[in-house]
Amino acid sequence: MVGKLFKTSKELVYIKKMRILGINCMNHDAAMAVVDDREILWAAHAERYSRVKNDHFLNQAIVDEAKTYGPFDKVVYYEKPLLKKTRQLYAGQYSDALSYTEMPQWNLERFGIKIDEYINHHTSHAAAGYFTSPFKDEGATILTVDAIGEWDTVSISTAEKVWIERKETIRYPHSIGILYSAFTQRCGLKPAEEEYILMGMAAYGEPKYKDDIYEDFVEQNPFKLKKNLHKGLGNWHPEADLMDLAASIQAVTEECLAGLWHKASKYGSKNLVYAGGVALNCVANSKLAGLGLFDNIWVIPNPGDAGSSIGCIAASQKQHLNWKNPFLGYNIKGEYPVDEIIKELTENKICGVANGKAEFGPRALGNRSLLADPRGSDIKDMVNQIKRRQKFRPFSPAILEEDVNEYFALPTPVKKAPYMQFTAAYTHGKDCPAIIHYDNSSRVQTVSKSDNEGFYELLKAWKSKTGCPMLLNTSLNIKGKPIVNDVKDGKAFEKKYGVKVCQ
Ligand SMILES: [Fe+2]
Repeated sequence: MVGKLFKTSKELVYIKKMRILGINCMNHDAAMAVVDDREILWAAHAERYSRVKNDHFLNQAIVDEAKTYGPFDKVVYYEKPLLKKTRQLYAGQYSDALSYTEMPQWNLERFGIKIDEYINHHTSHAAAGYFTSPFKDEGATILTVDAIGEWDTVSISTAEKVWIERKETIRYPHSIGILYSAFTQRCGLKPAEEEYILMGMAAYGEPKYKDDIYEDFVEQNPFKLKKNLHKGLGNWHPEADLMDLAASIQAVTEECLAGLWHKASKYGSKNLVYAGGVALNCVANSKLAGLGLFDNIWVIPNPGDAGSSIGCIAASQKQHLNWKNPFLGYNIKGEYPVDEIIKELTENKICGVANGKAEFGPRALGNRSLLADPRGSDIKDMVNQIKRRQKFRPFSPAILEEDVNEYFALPTPVKKAPYMQFTAAYTHGKDCPAIIHYDNSSRVQTVSKSDNEGFYELLKAWKSKTGCPMLLNTSLNIKGKPIVNDVKDGKAFEKKYGVKVCQ
């Protein structure tokens, strides 16, 4: 492959154009990515192929698809397994720490994949964020927050051109992510998976236990946990209403994160790259954005560990990637079926779509979506009947970017939200109850032509027919299963629920 020489501010670097495979697995959401020089060719979640939700492991189908982009000059893994084992030993997880089957290379052997390089977990998060960000020329401050990497739980770095320099680190067991996951478990949900449900519950409760959480578990400035909560917090406050517990931990989390955002802002940049699984908390994101500490905020649409399959490649190569959009997965070829969807929505108010490349990230953004007319009081129940999920959980809207300010108040300085990473107050009366949460907010998705041309044309056509510039947009998945991936999955959805899936 062709190489090139260039001079950076620090030294002369020889960059060889390479095609690289990035992997994360053996966590709660295994994924693979292929990058050729600066182009992200493909990225996908293992669960979409195995049909096992939050699959920890890779499978033959995803590996086979990855290999269609090969051969690879290098294979990079998103964390350092030996370092992770030292932490597991410290934490008393002896069976994990001492088992060789818990080594990624052992798991990848059967696919004929050999790992060439291992990247630090939070370095992968930071690189996934920064090297896909629009801050290539100006630089940024990078904040990563998750449950845990090898030992790290929070990192703050400064970034200039291609140089990322770690400035601060918080280490296990002091972890905002572990704290939130412990409350997820306390509220009867699955930790490391269902934190987003806890976040939705928070709107219904009062933060009555906030002071008790500080008293029993949390020290602020600097953030510290008074107890190791890796194994949960048991039946803490057994009498508590779960909604109040959710509201309380959400409030504490927002305050602790605000402390970290303030710390990050001291490094002087007005650009923030925010990454790690905690960056999926869109309610907190909106409040943090509203602090006014940064003029520009970039959150990659897959800020958790799955996104680190791209991040580890970027960290290895130390170069910016040409970020276009998160439609990076399995491709269902064909024109976006605008007319067919409009017909279905007009007649039946609800319609599935499975077309184009699958979203890389936890949100369906128009290519693997269940769409519905957001007007009328019966829509939420109708969609809930199909999704069979807790009634309190809200649905999200996708709206034409040019119309967002007429319907929603996005937090300053957020101008658009193409990846559903922020909540916004609904300011247009009560005409679309299906997409408004209990606290009058919505996890809004703005759609422009450059984000997704087919979906944009659909919203335009819907607006010209109805006057309404938005649709309810939720993920196209059978309950308990991952989001639809291919044509066969789309047909299975159609058969199970009797809802047309346009492909
Ligand atoms: Fe992580």
